[in-house]
Parts: sequence; C-alpha cells; structure tokens
Amino acid sequence: MKFAVFGDIHGNIEALKVAYEAAQSAGAEKIYHLGDLGGYSPFVNEVVDFITEHSIEGVQGNYDETVAKNAEHCGCKAEDPVQEEMANRSFAWTKAHVTGKTKEFLGKLPVGITFTDQGRKIVLFHATPRKNNLYWFEDRPEKFFQEMAGKVDADILIYGHTHKPYRKDFENKIFINAGSVGKPKDGDPRACVTLIDITPETVNVEFLRVSYDVEKAAQAIVTSGLPEYFAKRLKEAK
Ligand SMILES: [Fe+2]
Repeated sequence: MKFAVFGDIHGNIEALKVAYEAAQSAGAEKIYHLGDLGGYSPFVNEVVDFITEHSIEGVQGNYDETVAKNAEHCGCKAEDPVQEEMANRSFAWTKAHVTGKTKEFLGKLPVGITFTDQGRKIVLFHATPRKNNLYWFEDRPEKFFQEMAGKVDADILIYGHTHKPYRKDFENKIFINAGSVGKPKDGDPRACVTLIDITPETVNVEFLRVSYDVEKAAQAIVTSGLPEYFAKRLKEAK
C-alpha cells in the first residue's frame, strides 16, 4: 500500500490543503496524521474540520492532549526563556479559541495506530511509544532506538514531534520521522508530506516538499493576535 503521513500540522490550514492535494496526486491510498493539530498558527478548528471531512485518521500529540485537558502547559520544551514565553502565549491563545467540538475531538484521538501491510507491522504515534513529548531526533544514540523499538511490536515505527524528517534502518526495523506539514524546523519552509510505499520486497520512503503560500500563512498568524515570532519562525523554518 502507498500511504501518506502528515506530521505536526499545528493550525496551518494553508499547508494542510496543499499537503492533501500533493498526497492525492502522488497516489496515496490513505492518509494518516501524527497529531499536534493546533498551536502556533490560528486554524486549529479548521484543521480538525478538514481532517474529519477528508477521513484523515491519526493519533494524539502532546498539544492535542494538553489543549483537551485545559492543562497549564503545552508539554513542549523551550530552548530559551523567550521561546518559553512565546510557547505559553500560543498555548493560551489556542485554549481560548478551540471550540467545544474541536476540544472533544482532540481529547478522543488515540495514542497510537497499528496495522499490518505486506506482512509488516506498522505503528504510528506522536513522539515515542510511551511518551508523547520526548524529542526523538535522528542523532539519538542507537541504544535509544533499540530501547524505543523494544516498547512496541512493530517492524516500521512512524512518528513526528521534532518537525525534522528522517529515515533510519536499524536492526531489521525502519524508523521514520515524518517531519511537519505546518511548521517545519529543518530550514525548509515547504510542507513536508511523507509518502510510504510498502511492497513485498521494499519499503520506499519519500519526503516530498510542497510549496505553499507561506507569506499568507505568516500574515494570518499576525492578524490573529498570535505573536509575530511564530510568523518569522514559519518563514525561516526554525
Ligand atoms: Fe509535538
């Protein structure tokens, strides 16, 4: 089966729409999302409506969980005090603007999705199998990959949260970080659409980058009353 995975959409409806078109054009038979549907950009409700209307199934991210629970903190890790302050403002904004329907939807997202294709077991989760806010970067030691793989019965593990895509093949398992549709942090502001094609012989993974109107999305952040900081970060893909 050929399917697409949408990592961290984060309220960016412009990016989501082009990602969807790209996945359709690429022949994806199914689309999954990896959670973190809101935050940093204003269109959390629109994103939830879109994925519902287009039957995009997915898992719960830390942001979805904390918004649904009306928590004090988003569960995101800040690198400095400015980022912490900005993260708090984004979180407060998002909690204030989600509809009851959106909140309920976010609260009911499953922690993981598992399925089998061509005899391979696939599992999707937001960040790591047991914790939804741990950053699983590519340069984590192999011991970490081993440890995480030991927590689930799967051949292919698919996750996001870091907003930096990668594929790593290690000890007969395939680890795929799907990057981010709505808030890439790898220096490339285009939406990242991860296409996975599983055949009896191979597993092909493609990180398709799709251009969209980043300027428009950045402007919407400013207009909404969210900090301009996030508009700048979106354009810089930081
Ligand atoms: Fe996340």
